Amino acid sequence: MNNVLITGGAGFIGSNFVRYLLRVEPDVCIVNLDALTYAGSLENLRALPDPSRHIFVHGDIRERALVDRLLRAHRVDTIVHFAAESHVDRSILGPGAFVQTNVVGTFTLLEAARDYWESADAPPVTKRFHHISTDEVYGSLRPADPPFSERTPYAPNSPYAASKAASDHLARAYAHTYGLPLTITNCSNNYGPYQFPEKLIPLMLLNALEGKPLPVYGDGLQVRDWLYVEDHCEAIWRVLRAGTPGETYNIGGDNQATNLEIVQTLCEILNACHPDSPHAPFAQLITHVPDRPGHDRRYAMDIRKIQTQLGWSPRHSLAKGLRKTVDWYLRNGAWLEAIRQRGDFRSWMAVNYVGREGVS
Ligand code: NAD
Ligand code: DAU
Repeated sequence: MNNVLITGGAGFIGSNFVRYLLRVEPDVCIVNLDALTYAGSLENLRALPDPSRHIFVHGDIRERALVDRLLRAHRVDTIVHFAAESHVDRSILGPGAFVQTNVVGTFTLLEAARDYWESADAPPVTKRFHHISTDEVYGSLRPADPPFSERTPYAPNSPYAASKAASDHLARAYAHTYGLPLTITNCSNNYGPYQFPEKLIPLMLLNALEGKPLPVYGDGLQVRDWLYVEDHCEAIWRVLRAGTPGETYNIGGDNQATNLEIVQTLCEILNACHPDSPHAPFAQLITHVPDRPGHDRRYAMDIRKIQTQLGWSPRHSLAKGLRKTVDWYLRNGAWLEAIRQRGDFRSWMAVNYVGREGVS
C-alpha cells in the first residue's frame, strides 16, 4: 500500500478514514476524490495529521477520464471506495441519484481499475480495490433471528440498500470474472465525529441543543447495531493489510439497541452536561412521528469471520462511544452551526419527517 485513492473522503466515514490512515501508515500518500455533494465538506478534512501526504481532488467518480488520469498520475495501487449517496430517507424521496453514484459510479471505478492495473503502466506491486458496503443489503431481521453472516442471501428493502447491493454484485463479479484483487466489507450503523446531522444521532443532538422535537419514527423499537466510526476505520485497515482478495467481511459493533434507547441515552448524557438548560430534561422533546416507509425492523451482524481470521474486534462499548460522540459535537459547535446555516440542509429538514404531526 503506497498510493491510495480514497473516494468519498470528505464525507463522514471517509474523512475519519483519511485521518486514521495518515496516522497508522507513515509512508502512504492519499488522493481523495470527492464530489462535495451536500454530505461532503472540506471542513471534515481540517487539521489532518500529515496534510503533505493528502491531495484533495474535487470530482465525480462517474467521470471516467478523471479517474483514469488520477490512477495513472499517482500510480495508484490501492482504492478504498466510500463515495456513495448514503441516506435511506433521501433514497425514498429521490432514488435516481443513488443509482447514479452507487451503481454507475462503482462500475466506473471498477472498469478504470481493471483497465489500469492490467496495463503495462501499472506499478509492479500488490494491488487492492476495497469496496465499502452496508448491512442493509441483507434486509431486515425478526427479533429472534440470528445476525447476518457473510452467507446471508441479499434482500435489500430500500432504494439505497438496493443500489448498494447492486454495487456489491458488480464488485464481486469483477473479482470472480476478471480476477480484480478486491475485498468487500459490509458494516452496520456508524456514529461519531463529522457525521452529517441528517442521521439519527447527530440529528438528535442538534435538535436537542436547539430545544426542537426529537423525531422518532414509528414506535422507535427498530434495532440497529451501532459501531463507533474509528473502530470501522481500524477494521477496514485490517482488511487492507491482511484480508484475502475475493472475500467479504462483515463488520459490526456487537451493540444492538433500539432507536428509543439511543435517543434516551443521548438525552441522559446531555442532561448531565447541561443540567441548567431550559430544554432539560431533554427526553421531554422526544416526539413520535410517522414511520419511514418500508422501515427495516432490525439489523445485527455476525462478526466472527473478521474476529477469527483478522483479529479485529470493536474497541468501543455503546456507552463509551456515545459519550465520546456527544463530547465531540459539544466541542465542535461551529462545525454543526456551519451545516445548520446551509441552504441545502435547511431545505432537507423542511421536506423530511421533522415537524410532521406526531403519531402518539
Ligand atoms: P456520507 O454521505 O457521509 O459521505 C459520502 C461522501 O461521498 C460525501 O463526501 C460525498 O460528497 C461523496 N460523494 C457522493 N457522491 C459522489 C460522487 N458521485 N463522486 C464522488 N464523491 C461522491 O457517507 P458515509 O456515511 O460516510 O458512508 C460512506 C460509505 O460507507 C458509503 O458507501 C456507505 O454506503 C457506507 N456505509 C455507511 C454506514 C453509516 O452508518 N454511515 C454504514 C455502513 C456502510
Ligand atoms: O446500517 C448501516 C446503514 O446505517 C448505512 O448503510 C447507511 O448509510 C446509514 O445512513 C445508516 O442507515 P439507517 O437508516 O439505519 O440510519 P439513520 O441514521 O437514518 O436511522 C437510524 C434509525 O433511526 C433508523 O431506524 C431510522 C431511525 N430514525 C432516523 C432519523 C434520521 C428516526 O427514528 N428518526 C430520525 O430522525
